[in-house]
Amino acid sequence: MTTDVALTMREQAALLAAARAAMDKAYAPYSRFHVGAAVLDENGHIHAGCNVENAAYPQGVCAEAGALSAMVLAGGRRARAVLVMGPGGALVTPCGGCRQKIREFAAPDTPVLIAGEGGVRASFTLEQLLPQSFGPEHLAQA
Ligand code: THU
Repeated sequence: MTTDVALTMREQAALLAAARAAMDKAYAPYSRFHVGAAVLDENGHIHAGCNVENAAYPQGVCAEAGALSAMVLAGGRRARAVLVMGPGGALVTPCGGCRQKIREFAAPDTPVLIAGEGGVRASFTLEQLLPQSFGPEHLAQA
């Protein structure tokens, strides 16, 4: 499946602002690593999430998971673009589990933008981050 991947400057700016605001709300007392994520859905709406850690460490939830949950709750079913914002010098790309979570709602050419607080630093397609992936089509074809 392909999508219209072109993001307007306005959409990118809105994704950045939403992710930045979400990052400020992160609950990360254990790692102190604050992450914000924002998803643009097929209706042009933006949904944000932050990481929410837990004293039982494995129960923590990534920012991307929160943003996707917010999208689904609001009625969105397709991610036209995803933006992840995190701190530090290294690119904060989605973890493996989050790549699969994004994959459920995105296409191979869906852009996944990686940002720091200063702005977008890199852009990947979902296919680059999760090649040869498994998804809903596999279940439909079985
Ligand atoms: N984290 C995210 O929320 N998203 C990512 O893409 C990478 C990692 C969170 C999980 C944990 O709360 C903290 O960052 C450190 O791993």
